Amino acid sequence: MATGHMLCRWLSIPSPLTAARRLTITTKALTVPPPPSTSIRQTAARAAATVTTTTTSSGDAKRRRKKEKERKKAAEAAAAKSEKEKRRTRSDKEHDSSLEFHSSNKDHVPVMLREVVDVFASMPLRSFVDCTLGAAGHSSAIIKAHPQLEQYIGMDVDPEAHAKARAHIDALLLSDSHSHLKTHTLLKNFRNVKSVIGEVDANLLQSGVDAILMDLGMSSMQVNNPERGFSVMADGPLDMRMDPQASLRAADILNSWPDAEVGRVLRDYGEESNWRLLQNKIVLARLKGGIHSTTELIDLIRSMTHGARGGRQGWIKTATRVFQALRIAVNDELSILEKALKDCFACLAPGGRFAVISFHSLEDRIVKQTFLSIIGTGEVPKDDCAGEAKETWVKQIVRGPNGSILTKRPVTPSEEEERLNRRCRSAKLRVIEKSR
Ligand SMILES: C[S@@+](CC[C@H](N)C(=O)[O-])C[C@H]1O[C@@H](n2cnc3c(N)ncnc32)[C@H](O)[C@@H]1O
Repeated sequence: MATGHMLCRWLSIPSPLTAARRLTITTKALTVPPPPSTSIRQTAARAAATVTTTTTSSGDAKRRRKKEKERKKAAEAAAAKSEKEKRRTRSDKEHDSSLEFHSSNKDHVPVMLREVVDVFASMPLRSFVDCTLGAAGHSSAIIKAHPQLEQYIGMDVDPEAHAKARAHIDALLLSDSHSHLKTHTLLKNFRNVKSVIGEVDANLLQSGVDAILMDLGMSSMQVNNPERGFSVMADGPLDMRMDPQASLRAADILNSWPDAEVGRVLRDYGEESNWRLLQNKIVLARLKGGIHSTTELIDLIRSMTHGARGGRQGWIKTATRVFQALRIAVNDELSILEKALKDCFACLAPGGRFAVISFHSLEDRIVKQTFLSIIGTGEVPKDDCAGEAKETWVKQIVRGPNGSILTKRPVTPSEEEERLNRRCRSAKLRVIEKSR
């Protein structure tokens, strides 16, 4: 290159380095064979052009490769998105404000309310169990939609949710005529759903419940209270217990669980690819007194993702995964789910329905697989007419000898609901019906 540069100066033609910035010579020009007799000037000019072209085309090739890579990445992302869309059934329900049971209830906006009401709409419900009361949004709408309801049981592990739900249900009973409805709200874990129903009414356990609902995840009351430690966006103690009587807090995991267990929680419950680095940082932080607040944990995550691609989005995504992992571990969410799902199905009356809303893929996978194992394989009784086509929300059914899954693909919130309530974005609704 240096010799070429000198030669150019001597021949007073533009240096290839300068020309590289100005000239654009096509690859075609490169392939033109040199004329048989050429002067030094021509040779030098060609040499300059060759250098220029090589520089330009190697730059071009780099740019092309980068563009190609970006195009490929975008195509893959689009394919993954459309595959995801194919695997689910987006609800086309419109927002129905008449379902808002109490305009004064700002505690929690129930997710997929219209869809949940539709699941039980065709059934003359006499009994209904809500395993996750929250602020009783779903419960209230179902009680309102079924004036013939006789027995209602609602449970939650959170005393604040329980108190709010009780107040909302009492107000509903006062305003609507449900004189024959017996309501029971209990501070109980749904892992004990069978014994809870049995204690309330042994006959109900015997005959079976018409409808059961499980709306997993956190309520807005929990997320919005910094003292509970669930929120990535607010400073508070690292608590994350749904049941304040439970002994394990998120801070206990971070500050005293064995290193490998901390790593396992981040990897298995947060699906966090950087789990090992995080584990090491957390263990190192113990030497300086440990991590005790959500802000301290966020600072640690930010220091780790500092400079990484994605900026604010990058650390928020990591933090969301880490908080999810800790919450699952603190509340032992996944290990109790499969048995609770099976127990709920066992408590159903023949023809009864059980609806579950999940909020992350780990939960949804368990719901999907447990439902498949519940319905069983083999001959399906001919007179089982579960989920008749006249119910428009039922798209595809998977039938088994013990029951039918009425949502071969999970139902997901409508675009309108996603716009109105961003917290519903990851919700998936699956429904199973017991054989008659
Ligand atoms: C998403 S909220 C339910 C909101 C409710 N469907 C509504 O419309 O207001 C989930 C609730 O389930 C409760 N919960 C979580 N795990 C539980 C468990 N194992 N047993 C009982 N309740 C639980 C939480 O405390 C929380 O209040």
